[in-house]
Amino acid sequence: MAAGKGTRMKSRLPKVLHRLGGRALLAHVIDCAARLSARQAVVITGHGAAEVESAMGREVPAGLGISFARQEPQLGTGHAVQQALPLLADDGITLVLSGDVPLTRVETLEALLVQCGGQRLALLTLSMADPTGYGRIVRAGKETSAQVRAIVEHKDASDAERAISEIYSGIMAVPTRLLRGWLARLDNKNAQNEYYLTDIVKFAVTDGVAVVAHQISDAAQVAGVNSPVQLAELERVHQLRMATALMEQGVRLADPARIDVRGTLDCAQDVEIDVNCVFSGAVTLGEGVSIGANCMIANARIAAGAVIHPFTHIDGEKLGVQVGEGALVGPFARLRPGADLGAEVHIGNFVEVKNASLARGAKANHLAYVGDAALGERVNYGAGSITANYDGANKHRTVIEADVHIGSNCVLVAPVTIGAGGTVGAGSTITKSTPPGTLNVARGKQVSLENWQRPVKPPKA
Ligand code: UD1
Ligand code: CA
Repeated sequence: MAAGKGTRMKSRLPKVLHRLGGRALLAHVIDCAARLSARQAVVITGHGAAEVESAMGREVPAGLGISFARQEPQLGTGHAVQQALPLLADDGITLVLSGDVPLTRVETLEALLVQCGGQRLALLTLSMADPTGYGRIVRAGKETSAQVRAIVEHKDASDAERAISEIYSGIMAVPTRLLRGWLARLDNKNAQNEYYLTDIVKFAVTDGVAVVAHQISDAAQVAGVNSPVQLAELERVHQLRMATALMEQGVRLADPARIDVRGTLDCAQDVEIDVNCVFSGAVTLGEGVSIGANCMIANARIAAGAVIHPFTHIDGEKLGVQVGEGALVGPFARLRPGADLGAEVHIGNFVEVKNASLARGAKANHLAYVGDAALGERVNYGAGSITANYDGANKHRTVIEADVHIGSNCVLVAPVTIGAGGTVGAGSTITKSTPPGTLNVARGKQVSLENWQRPVKPPKA
């Protein structure tokens, strides 16, 4: 169900498209369905339907068929599920999930499906210290094992019912053929004049179909997002889960409360991550990689033994970034899409690399720009040097062959090739390719004038 408005988010964006761990809330829910090997997912849309549908087209996991049923207007959760019925096959189990409840564990849903077993109505429930607002699980007697009779919505509940602490989570598993019959019997004669999905419990009881409550104790798994405050709370829960999973694999986090993973982070053995790092998209860290404090790393593969010093910004976007074995990067380095660093490459402070490869052992240690370029093995690229890759209309490539030494503060005006083993003198502006092994100097000649006088201010009157 993803048709609700989400008024309390106070946002133009439909609620289920707000992000948790870098992904839409609804994408987390659909991921769960994919991991359950669901036959298909039917998303019920209403508010912002077109936007939600096109976003899901982009974010949905491969292998899961997904279709949409529109619910306009929104007349309650029972009415919502009615809209999906034409898309559901009678021989299946329908698992009802909410698009704004992102942290349900797959194992919990598997257990719920087992309880349903294709013949029972299985409800996911939870006991709450403050159950205000939720539907209450009404049982035939006081014992926790007593038969479930109904779910009564908070607004319709008597004082005695409001005293019940066991609530309905909003998640149920129900044989589809039974669901179809029960939904046809719903009415909206209640405090909210809505078609309540929860009324099907009464019909199950009347029809002699067993109703089972699968009770869990972890409230985060059924917590919904209604406001920015709740979104931020669940983000912390999600991040702590990710951090715990990493540590369980052996990753050493300086502080599990100070890491954010907004995508996937795959780590080999003996990876260390200092505080305040943010990982986005798909990031892979090889054996023994060390990440310093305050790094932002997105869409990158960092090979074994590489060290990323503090405050480094890496974003591979679509092209990706590769950092080779034993490379040293940062502090304060910036690797942009298409940066491809070989083994033992050094990238120092305030160096920007974009769409450029640096072969094994090449170094650019200070204040430099390397864009649209290929640097050979062991090239030393001096402080303050840049590739002038853009002529205002087109980008051009710079090739620097093996063992070249580029002095400080050089401008290499592309397209240009610096021949192997050559040297470019400091302060040169190179506009023509250079032969291998040569010293190339292209700058104003130094002159020393002997009889020159510095201007002086006239004496004050
Ligand atoms: C519902 C349950 C309540 C349960 C609670 C758990 C009903 C009648 N009540 O409460 O027992 O304790 O969830 O959070 O089911 N939605 C639609 N179309 C609609 C109405 C809702 O798609 O017409 C979607 C919402 O976007 C949301 C989900 O259904 O994702 C639940 O709706 P919400 O209004 O939060 O649930 P309640 O009715 O308050
Ligand atoms: Ca609600």
